[in-house]
Amino acid sequence: MNDSQSEIDYLKKQISKQEKMASLGLLSAGIAHEIQNPLNFVINFSVSSARLLRDLKEIIDESADAFSEEQKNELQEILTDLQNNMRKIEANGNRASSIVKGILLYSRGKENEYIPTNLAQLTKEYVWLSFHAARANNKSFNVSIVEHYEEGLPPACVIPQDFSRVVLNLMSNACYAVYHKSQQTKDLHYKPTICIELKHEGDSVRLVIEDNGTGISEEVQSHLYTPFYTTKPIGEGTGLGLAISKSIVERKHHGQLIMETAVGEFTRFTILIPIKQTSH
Ligand SMILES: Nc1ncnc2c1ncn2[C@@H]1O[C@H](COP(=O)(O)OP(=O)(O)OP(=O)(O)O)[C@@H](O)[C@H]1O
Ligand SMILES: [Mg+2]
Repeated sequence: MNDSQSEIDYLKKQISKQEKMASLGLLSAGIAHEIQNPLNFVINFSVSSARLLRDLKEIIDESADAFSEEQKNELQEILTDLQNNMRKIEANGNRASSIVKGILLYSRGKENEYIPTNLAQLTKEYVWLSFHAARANNKSFNVSIVEHYEEGLPPACVIPQDFSRVVLNLMSNACYAVYHKSQQTKDLHYKPTICIELKHEGDSVRLVIEDNGTGISEEVQSHLYTPFYTTKPIGEGTGLGLAISKSIVERKHHGQLIMETAVGEFTRFTILIPIKQTSH
């Protein structure tokens, strides 16, 4: 087979991969929608059970004479345990519900539609999504994730699916880099770490994703944003992550994607995007 034929075959494969990703988006939105209903039952019934427990406690307190000291203590203990359990069910039900709502929100926006978005929430969700994806692929993978989200950040106008894709791409590169460093290094104290920082800077928001992984050599730096350029083995990287991310940040959001690195030390990607998108 000649070179151009194999290149065409390769590109066809990439396109079909992208199509699969798009239908995966639709599928997850569908599943999220179906999960929300039973989740509402869990939350509502845990709230109503907590209320019933409070009533029950009142009745028991009022009829204190009917129980021995030992029985009263036992009842108190059981009631406290039940109330704690209810609180946990409600809190985790709410947590699951906010994840589901997030998925629905981000897959609902139309293509290229800017939506005022809570970037801290969106970033956090996709940071952890990529962490769990890396863990699912490789049980021995671990990393400390240090997060700092500025409080009271105003909603920023972004295309949520696109912005989240950038977070996923940068995170998956960072996970890969710290994992590879942990495999290569002789330093027994090496602690794979990824730091996330989101803050507001003038009229822009600044998101930094920094890893203490392998760093990027000058040779690789010169091809960093070239589509299909990858140093990863076949099947592990398509070489599109950074090319797509750059175009999303700079072309679609009129921002900047900046890379700083030191080989063997760290890689830091900074995304700067305007909070408001004026028409261009
Ligand atoms: N955080 C990082 N640390 C070290 N090297 C990096 C980092 N991010 C990117 N690179 C280097 O840049 C190359 C290109 O990255 P890019 O995300 O575009 O493609 P990829 O990760 O190889 O494949 P894909 O993202 O499409 O699965 C990578 O192969 C890797 O060599
Ligand atoms: Mg990548």
